[in-house]
Amino acid sequence: MGSYKYMETILIPAFILLLSLNYVMPCNLTVNFYDKTCPKALASIKRSVWAAVASNPRNAALLVRLHFHDCFVQGCDASLLLEGAGSEKASPANDGVLGYEVIDAVKAAVERVCPGVVSCADILAVAARDATVAGSIMDSKTWKKRSEAITDLPRGNMNLNQLIDNFRRKGLNAREMVALSGSHTIGQARCVRFRGRIYNSSLNIDAAFNSSLTESCPPTAPNGDSNLQPLDLVTPNRFDNNYFKNLVSNKGLLISDQVLFNRDSTDSIVTEYVNNPSTFDSDFAAAMIKMGEMMSLLVLMEL
Ligand code: HEM
Repeated sequence: MGSYKYMETILIPAFILLLSLNYVMPCNLTVNFYDKTCPKALASIKRSVWAAVASNPRNAALLVRLHFHDCFVQGCDASLLLEGAGSEKASPANDGVLGYEVIDAVKAAVERVCPGVVSCADILAVAARDATVAGSIMDSKTWKKRSEAITDLPRGNMNLNQLIDNFRRKGLNAREMVALSGSHTIGQARCVRFRGRIYNSSLNIDAAFNSSLTESCPPTAPNGDSNLQPLDLVTPNRFDNNYFKNLVSNKGLLISDQVLFNRDSTDSIVTEYVNNPSTFDSDFAAAMIKMGEMMSLLVLMEL
């Protein structure tokens, strides 16, 4: 029963977003792509994703992050799944990215209904949508090795200008960057990623929040490096706007979270998402689609 409660909190808002997306779906992306070639594909992916999230609510976060990390390195082409020396997956920038076995299970289930039809890139995208929010389905059938993960992926200690620049290089504006950061309403981060925030940052931090974090994250590496804390301490498994409320209370876990509300240009966007959760929902959904769409265009340009 407990796990189904989690399912509701994560997936019902996702479903509402899915419905709201129909009118913003870019014309070159379609949810009907497999209607003829594999009509059971979407249902199969959804079933597997729901089962994975039911067994562990964090899987929702892992799937969204997998899609993001795949897209930000030269496109949503599933190159993140490739293994071996020099692969994107092996890059330190993808250290801590998890959930590959969930994708393996989803892929295996889809292969059982339609062998060799549905691309892994599409599975990553649909799985991310089914896990938390609506997304897009892309026709991206090529896998290429990538070595740009280090330069392309944003880091948790970036300041606001660096984040804005990083996303602008991907064709995403500051508002879209803030909306997408709202993914941190679910999932967790390791001490090694937030240590700088609690010991060495000049950013405001709530005193009680800070002291609770220092208990689980000792100041000196590698002590406690792998200890986890929720990115949204209020509703860690629920896709909502508490992430933004936390920022206003100086309870952002990563430096890259708190800089979004730090007496700077994005404060007003954060405040807007605090006051209007539905604006966050629709902005997030649209930005996820744009992320997928733009990256698939980049892939097409390379072909
Ligand atoms: C704005 C720039 C961003 C930065 C600097 C950033 C950085 C990070 C870091 C450092 C972590 C913790 C990783 C760890 O400890 O292993 C994390 C977790 C996560 N990120 Fe981001 N992220 C950003 C944007 C995004 C976006 C755009 C998405 C999705 C669309 C996303 C989804 C997630 C999720 C779901 C988690 C939790 C994963 C888990 O539970 O393991 N992030 N991010």
